[in-house]
Amino acid sequence: MQNKQWILNSFPVGEIKENDLILKDSNLGEVNDGEVLIKNVYLSLDPANRGWMSGKASYVDAMQIGDIMRGGTIGIIEESKNEKFKKGDAVQYQGGWQEYCINDGMGLRTIPLNTGLELPSFLSVMGMPGMTAYFGLLDVLKPKENETLVVSGAAGAVGSLVSQIAKIKGCRVIGIAGTEEKCNWLKNDLNVDGVINYKADNLNSALKELCPNGIDMYFDNVGGEITEAVINRFNIGGRMSICGQISGYNSETLQPGPRNWINILVKRLKVQGFIVFDYQARAKEAFVDMSKWMAEGKLQHKNHIVDGLENAVSSLKMLFSGENKGKMIVKISDE
Ligand SMILES: NC(=O)c1ccc[n+]([C@@H]2O[C@H](COP(=O)([O-])OP(=O)(O)OC[C@H]3O[C@@H](n4cnc5c(N)ncnc54)[C@H](OP(=O)(O)O)[C@@H]3O)[C@@H](O)[C@H]2O)c1
Repeated sequence: MQNKQWILNSFPVGEIKENDLILKDSNLGEVNDGEVLIKNVYLSLDPANRGWMSGKASYVDAMQIGDIMRGGTIGIIEESKNEKFKKGDAVQYQGGWQEYCINDGMGLRTIPLNTGLELPSFLSVMGMPGMTAYFGLLDVLKPKENETLVVSGAAGAVGSLVSQIAKIKGCRVIGIAGTEEKCNWLKNDLNVDGVINYKADNLNSALKELCPNGIDMYFDNVGGEITEAVINRFNIGGRMSICGQISGYNSETLQPGPRNWINILVKRLKVQGFIVFDYQARAKEAFVDMSKWMAEGKLQHKNHIVDGLENAVSSLKMLFSGENKGKMIVKISDE
């Protein structure tokens, strides 16, 4: 049986180039006892993919040249020689950028099919980005009613959920995003209290105007100049949840840290980074609350789905240009 796989061909320098990954045909082996054959249906594209390609270890081992590109997937079991799974089961797992995968059952999570949710949502609101938003906000920042929260990358997969959960918790939310369309969605559909288009507005004066009583919390998806501007407006005892630093993922050299780092001292700020995997054991807490909020119509989400495994590289690049409108997903095959 034939398979198609994206293979890491070179470690990207700066932005990802077309030949850093190459799409190859390969033969799929036999399904042995204890194994399942999975047809991958949806592939999650995440900013972290860029770091995994860099050749440097971080919170996961570095990928090597020749490896199948790593990625979270949803697949359907086509053949099972493992008693825990049956043909037709939908599973979520690290299936990689490929059409098919033979797996020994380790790391497969069966997706319940009675939730009324479409499958891609298990890569977004009910998947890793949802858990990231939930724990990065509620566990790291511990928001209190009437506090002011600023969210960068606010219209993205994680940021849009953070903004809405914070509204549910009674916070005043200011969202920062890179287009008018995204800002309008945040303001008109997600009901955030203020928006800043960081590509068009003056960040410092917009933050001053929209946060007249200062900033209590910051959920940071991007780092860089945006973070520096937010640090200027913090109240004493403010908290920062460092979720991502996408503005630096394509940089070859590390940028000097925020020039106003002294404010961490002067304003007695608490700064905490986190990795969503650390919350795996508590995933059910997020699942229960997020399902409830979805059912009550309090949580909206957008999945940006592109057809065809061959479009995975160009779709990944959209996360860095800001062209994605919601959770970036590639549809590999029909359900
Ligand atoms: N800590 C964890 O465990 C964890 C887990 C998941 C994700 N993350 C991090 O969370 C962040 C958001 O991830 P996501 O999956 O939700 O992606 P996303 O927000 O859906 O997509 C990425 C967005 O980043 C913005 N962006 C790109 N380059 C930028 C730049 N130079 N300056 C400012 N904004 C820029 C773009 O939005 P605009 O149009 O607004 O520019 C783009 O749409 C990423 O940093 C990611 O690494 C962390």
